[in-house]
Amino acid sequence: MVSILPRITPRAVRYSLRTVARPQLSIQRPSAPLYRRYLSTPAEQPRLRLGSTAPNFKAKTTQGDIDFHDFIGSSWAILFSHPADFTPVCTTELGAFAKLKDEFEKRGVKMIGLSANDLTSHDKWVEDINEVCNTNLQFPIIADADRKIAYMYDMIDQRDLDNIAEKGIPFTIRSVFIIDPDKKIRLTMMYPASTGRNTSEVLRVIDSLQTGDKKGIATPINWQVGEDVIVPPSVSTADARKKFGDVKEVKPYLRYTNVGK
Ligand code: BEZ
Repeated sequence: MVSILPRITPRAVRYSLRTVARPQLSIQRPSAPLYRRYLSTPAEQPRLRLGSTAPNFKAKTTQGDIDFHDFIGSSWAILFSHPADFTPVCTTELGAFAKLKDEFEKRGVKMIGLSANDLTSHDKWVEDINEVCNTNLQFPIIADADRKIAYMYDMIDQRDLDNIAEKGIPFTIRSVFIIDPDKKIRLTMMYPASTGRNTSEVLRVIDSLQTGDKKGIATPINWQVGEDVIVPPSVSTADARKKFGDVKEVKPYLRYTNVGK
């Protein structure tokens, strides 16, 4: 059978030992092709796991310079990216988020958008959004023209080879990061450029997270505020009854209660 692995001959071993032992070779490697440089994940890329600290950054926004963690302060935050200014789906999305300002404020959530365009472009585009969606967009939009933050938050489409071939850069995708007052990432969503998000789902998960934090419960599929919630496995049914009162036990591991609105 023909092996696809390189043959390791004694000569190759001698060569590699010599190479390793040689101090500070200053051979310039040819740089990786453009698409690889854009799409490879650098070793210093922070992990964006749920529960990890949202990476901090400084940025220019339509409302002035910010330090991201200072911007969040003691609020919750939603950081959401979109592929580009003056594109149709993005325009509908930002208009819809702008209209929900009161709903986000009611939940103590600060909104902040991001796209890989500069401030002049953002300012002009906001005028369009307000006109087309009949709204008054008031949250800041980060100008990430060099994609520094987009890479930091991995807001890149690995398969976006069309745009790379055409423009030499990948699209930023539609990411959503919900971040709590401790600056921990609590939820991420990633949508492709071709699919607009669902603002009701964003509000629903914020309600679920905040209710879960306050009451120590979990929420079932399609849950909405006011509906029955789930007693987590870590709480015994006896303890749940002491804490919540009525508990319906469907199975020993599936118990419902109601914590109101
Ligand atoms: C849009 O927002 O309409 C869009 C942006 C990039 C690719 C496809 C659609």
